[in-house]
Amino acid sequence: MALVSPSLLAADFLHLDRDIDMINRSEADWLHLDVMDGSFVPNISFGFPVLEAVAKACKKPLDVHYMIEHPERYIKQTAKLGAMMMNVHQEACVHLHRTVQEIHDAGMKAGVTLNPSTPVSVLEDIIGDVEMVLLMSVNPGFGGQKFIENTIDKVKRLRQMITEKGCQTLIEVDGGVQGETAPRLVAAGVDVLVSGSYVFGAPNPEEVIRGLRAL
Ligand code: DX5
Ligand code: ZN
Repeated sequence: MALVSPSLLAADFLHLDRDIDMINRSEADWLHLDVMDGSFVPNISFGFPVLEAVAKACKKPLDVHYMIEHPERYIKQTAKLGAMMMNVHQEACVHLHRTVQEIHDAGMKAGVTLNPSTPVSVLEDIIGDVEMVLLMSVNPGFGGQKFIENTIDKVKRLRQMITEKGCQTLIEVDGGVQGETAPRLVAAGVDVLVSGSYVFGAPNPEEVIRGLRAL
């Protein structure tokens, strides 16, 4: 059984209340929120005014994914939202260990995110200190992209590292997660599936969420 964290990026931004009601009714475990700054990634999504409104309406734990430079500047504001998980990119954090500590001190779980080209070996000395690793299975910045096949092998290597270290770190995957890729990801060792266009683009999103959870 996998946990499912639908990505709001693929929701209808003119009718967020409707889409968040759907998430609340659904079996989704978390809600995934993608924040982009137009610098770390070549796109801009939404920021705190939107996050605050969503946090008020959403009954699911918030899984916030920062695709931004200097995510450490926003730790307090993210904790104030009531976020459960704060994911920062390894590539954006020079002092990753300090940032992880600050996320914990603020009362949140810490996730470290890797771009497709970043090897899992960079996690060797931080894996035991984080609750989750988020592997990007597309280059971050856009929804609806094609799944990068190498992710399957990467998940297996990360699962092996976690087993060897004897830690409880969760593995989440984000990008191109749909009916064909999701079962293979879970078989490789993924705990949490992020899915945007596959969920929100479906005629019956609740059904799709239920299907992913059952994997
Ligand atoms: C991409 C985001 C994803 C995105 C996934 O940069 O981090 O969370 O919403 O979208 P799909 O599931 O459509 O690939
Ligand atoms: Zn994401």
